[in-house]
Order: sequence, then structure tokens, then C-alpha cells
Amino acid sequence: MNNSIVQLRNVVKRFDDVLAVEKMDLDIEEGTLVTLLGPSGCGKTTILRMIAGLEDCSEGDIYIKGKRVNDVPVHKRNLGMIFQDYALFPHKTIYDNVAFGLKYRDVSKAEIKKRVTRALETVRLPGVEFRKPAQLSGGQQQRIALARAIVIEPDVLLMDEPLSALDENLREEMRQEVDNLQSELGITTIFVTHDQREALSMSDNIIVMKDGLKQQEGGPEEVYDAPVNHFVADFLGHCNFYACRILGRENGLLKVEVADGKTLYSEHDEGWDVGKELELLVRAQKIEVVARGDTIPDTEVNIFDGIVKSRMYMGGEAWYFVELQDGTVVHAISISREFPFRDKDAVTLHIPPRHCRLIPKET
Ligand SMILES: Nc1ncnc2c1ncn2[C@@H]1O[C@H](COP(=O)(O)OP(=O)(O)O)[C@@H](O)[C@H]1O
Ligand SMILES: [Mg+2]
Repeated sequence: MNNSIVQLRNVVKRFDDVLAVEKMDLDIEEGTLVTLLGPSGCGKTTILRMIAGLEDCSEGDIYIKGKRVNDVPVHKRNLGMIFQDYALFPHKTIYDNVAFGLKYRDVSKAEIKKRVTRALETVRLPGVEFRKPAQLSGGQQQRIALARAIVIEPDVLLMDEPLSALDENLREEMRQEVDNLQSELGITTIFVTHDQREALSMSDNIIVMKDGLKQQEGGPEEVYDAPVNHFVADFLGHCNFYACRILGRENGLLKVEVADGKTLYSEHDEGWDVGKELELLVRAQKIEVVARGDTIPDTEVNIFDGIVKSRMYMGGEAWYFVELQDGTVVHAISISREFPFRDKDAVTLHIPPRHCRLIPKET
């Protein structure tokens, strides 16, 4: 058997004529943090709401701890929930806000006190019991929402874009908090976001979605480095895409021709037939930019001369748009201490064969 604590089987959700979720299968392993990642409207919230019991499935089954829960009401599913607008009760004290979830459970007053104190310690805000939400900062209120969700000792924590209302610095801090807390408590967490950085930095597993369909599932490095299609590649970061055709094999590398006759080599070979048309992708961060004439150690292939057409300084990185002799423009992102190149500089690009991935041609 597997260690899945939450399972979806063939789950479909229709709202009148909108197909919000299409045949979704999911296995969430106990103790992991799994992220549903995708653009707005792809069905993330709907999936979370169906797991929570706030929304019925049109088809399919949901299991929590091996038990089918389609007909189990929200309050009997033992789930902690945090949504984007974490809506604490403004007139209640922090104590009452955190204790709220325990009120309707069979928990003694003394036990409630013990658990609230512990939950506040866990989110590193001990001693704020008698304040009101407005007396806390946005980040602190977010942590109170977290305390309120974990105080019931849920089997699974559901978080729907909980950080998107916070400003960038606070978000980064809260990402770490959620990540640390999740590993400390070992609590299974399903996290929803449209932010790829958030997903990459926190998740054990990422489920990339588009139009109600799962596109790919895997660890952060897997979905980033080995995307299965154009959408996933593009959604997870800056990519160059080229239509290409398999020419054959040479020196253990796959040889492909890109549309304009350029030849590139890739380490990734799934045994495609010669002549097969695919798409070649290479992430902008994986391309090396050196001054024209500078040697690139240990390589003889995938080297192209070009001219910097434009350069954008981004603080910790620089973006170069380099025009090759045949007019192709390559986007390269350089992450280093110095960014020596300027517009019109002559440069040489190296595109390492191990970073040339091939995916199905877009239709
Ligand atoms: N209550 C509803 N009634 C009708 N359509 C809905 C409802 N909730 C969501 N939808 C539609 O379902 C699709 C998925 O929405 P949602 O799950 O909110 O996406 P996400 O959270 O990924 O942004 C969208 O097309 C949205 O408009
Ligand atoms: Mg949503």
C-alpha cells in the first residue's frame, strides 16, 4: 500500500458549463508539503474546497486516511484551513480567535488553554493572548491564522494562497516560517499558489496545473529542470524555445537542427527517430555568456557568436538578449558578481548540452 493520506480519484468539478477540474488523480503522502501550482482559474481553489468539503465533486472520489469522505461534512474531516484573506475575528481576542476551532469539539477548558498556549508558542508569538488582531502586524496576524489552523491538530493543513496579501519581504519570511513549521510538526500540507518561486522554495512535491488538468507532478528540481511540456517549462521560469528536428547521434550526444539550420547537441535522448520534430528548450539561466574570443573550458559544441542587443540590469542578475548571426535572439540570464557586457558588445554563448531539453512540439 502507499502512504497517501489524501487521495483523489477521477475527480471532476463542473460549475454549470464551466469544467473547473477535469479527471484529477492525486496522492498526497503523509507528512509532506505538496503545492498545487498554476495560473489563476486553473482549478486550484476548487480542488482545495472539494478536499475540505466546502464543495461537492461532480464525479469521482476523495479519500482521507483511506476513508471515502464525499459525504462527510466539513467539520468532521479534521482539516486545518488557511485562506488568502485569513479573516481573524476583529473583535475577539487572539485567545478566542485561536480557540475558535476547539469550541465545537469535545475539549475541556483546561485542555483548550494548554493547546492555545502551545499553538502560539509554535508560531513564535507567545503571550499575545489578550490582544486584538488589529494590534498585530500583517505577518503576525498570518501566524495567528496558522495557530488557529493547527490548534485542532488537523490531519491535513490546507492553505490557499495564504501569503499573497503580504508584501514581498514578509512573504519570503513567511515562506520560511511555513516551511519550518511544516517540517517541525510533520503535518501534511496542501499549499496552493500561482507563484513559481514560492512553490519551488517550499514544496516536497509540486503539481503543475493548467485548465483544470494536471500537467506534471514531481519534486521542485524535476519540474524545473525536466518539464514535460511547453506550458510547464514556461510557467516555471524563463526559457528559450526552438522548433527542432532530430538529425542523429554524434559522440554520445543527440544532434538536432533548429529551424534556421543551426545545429545543437543535447544530452537528453529518449530514442527519437531521425527526422522527428520536437521543441528544444533551454533555460535562460543555463546559458553562459563570455566575451567574444574568450575560451570556454571543456567544450566544443553549442557555441555561438552574437551581439548584445539589449541588457537589463536586475540587481542580483543581468538579462542579456543576444542576437546571433542568423538573427535568432537568445535570452541569457547571468548571475554573477559583475555584469561586464553592454549593448552592442560582441559575445559568445555556450549552451551546455545537458541543459538542452526536448519536449513535444506545440500544436
Ligand atoms: N462557484 C463558482 N461558480 C462558477 N464558476 C466557478 C466557481 N468557482 C470557480 N469557478 C470557475 O472554475 C474555474 C477554476 O476556478 P478556481 O478553482 O477558483 O481557480 P484558481 O484557484 O486556480 O484560480 C474558473 O474558471 C472559475 O471561474
Ligand atoms: Mg484560487
